[in-house]
Amino acid sequence: MKKKIFITGAEGFIGSHITEKLLTLGYNVTALVLYNFTGDIGNLKYISKNNLKKLNIIFGDISDPETYFKNLKKTNIVINLASLISIPYSYRAPISYFNNNIIGTSNFLAACKNLNIEKFIHFSTSEIYGTPKKIPITETTPLNPQSPYAASKAAIDHVIKSYYYSFNIPVVILRPFNNYGPRQSRRAVIPEIICQILKKNIISLGDINTKRDFLFVEDTANAVLRVIKTNNILGEEFNIGSNKFFKIKDIVNILSKLIQKKIIIKIDKKKIRPFKSEVRHLLCDYSKAKKILKWTPSIMKKNFFKNSLLETIRFYEKNYEQLDKIYFND
Ligand SMILES: NC(=O)c1ccc[n+]([C@@H]2O[C@H](COP(=O)([O-])OP(=O)(O)OC[C@H]3O[C@@H](n4cnc5c(N)ncnc54)[C@H](O)[C@@H]3O)[C@@H](O)[C@H]2O)c1
Repeated sequence: MKKKIFITGAEGFIGSHITEKLLTLGYNVTALVLYNFTGDIGNLKYISKNNLKKLNIIFGDISDPETYFKNLKKTNIVINLASLISIPYSYRAPISYFNNNIIGTSNFLAACKNLNIEKFIHFSTSEIYGTPKKIPITETTPLNPQSPYAASKAAIDHVIKSYYYSFNIPVVILRPFNNYGPRQSRRAVIPEIICQILKKNIISLGDINTKRDFLFVEDTANAVLRVIKTNNILGEEFNIGSNKFFKIKDIVNILSKLIQKKIIIKIDKKKIRPFKSEVRHLLCDYSKAKKILKWTPSIMKKNFFKNSLLETIRFYEKNYEQLDKIYFND
């Protein structure tokens, strides 16, 4: 029988893709969706009706086990993506990040003690490495979180490892580099560039000289499947990225060519991170994931980057009107 999976942050960008893949493969999935007064299921509304019918959705909050404990008890595998993730907002609301991402996740971990969970797959991030002294970044690169978001994610990695050592929680940590693909919040760099190009001829961005390693969201979902299937990896962390990096201004050029629109970039100082907080470059060494999980990113395939960006652009073209109504300022 297929495993029972409990996934948090399922309504988010990456969570919805993982949930969709698991349902298509026949897993029995329960999605924890952050309680909200409108009953919105976020990105889960984009998955097929057939898959949605099979999904058990519960509204709750990772920080309050009363909202999900009954379901957690029956689970074989936990996938934990729930997190506040916007770096700019973390400068305005650092305490919210520490409460949600450290204390909230610690409550969730505590609820997982003494249950028959086989694997607790936790989503960390490449941001916890900060600007590294040496690239590419391996799992042993020293952690140097430079924003409240990154600090909250680095702290909870340590808490999670301590739960592995102290209480035998069967953890595996994934550290994805910058994901992109359909359904991502407009706050992220690729959707923001696409949406601005679709609407304007002059686009406004922050630092366009920083370099990021971009990973298609489908590859991240495949890495989760490899973690589910691979034995003897408890207590391990894995970097997942493409081992190629691009300056943001190069991404703008690629996207404007694909959309076939000439644009001008205007630098908006308000969008630049505090100087010491900016992560200059991130480049992933995924050799551990390749060796142990037998996972590789699809960027190696001919034209994959271009085609996956085109797929991403098509999503924003189709949903632009709706997404443009969402109000945000950081
Ligand atoms: N997007 C990226 O490029 C990227 C890169 C590296 C790591 N990550 C990590 O991957 C995970 C998912 O990221 P994403 O891009 O899909 O973000 P997202 O914001 O789209 O999804 C996060 C989800 O977590 C939910 N959530 C937040 N707090 C919660 C709580 N207290 N209880 C229950 N649910 C809660 C939110 O409602 C949201 O749906 C995060 O842990 C993030 O740190 C993302």
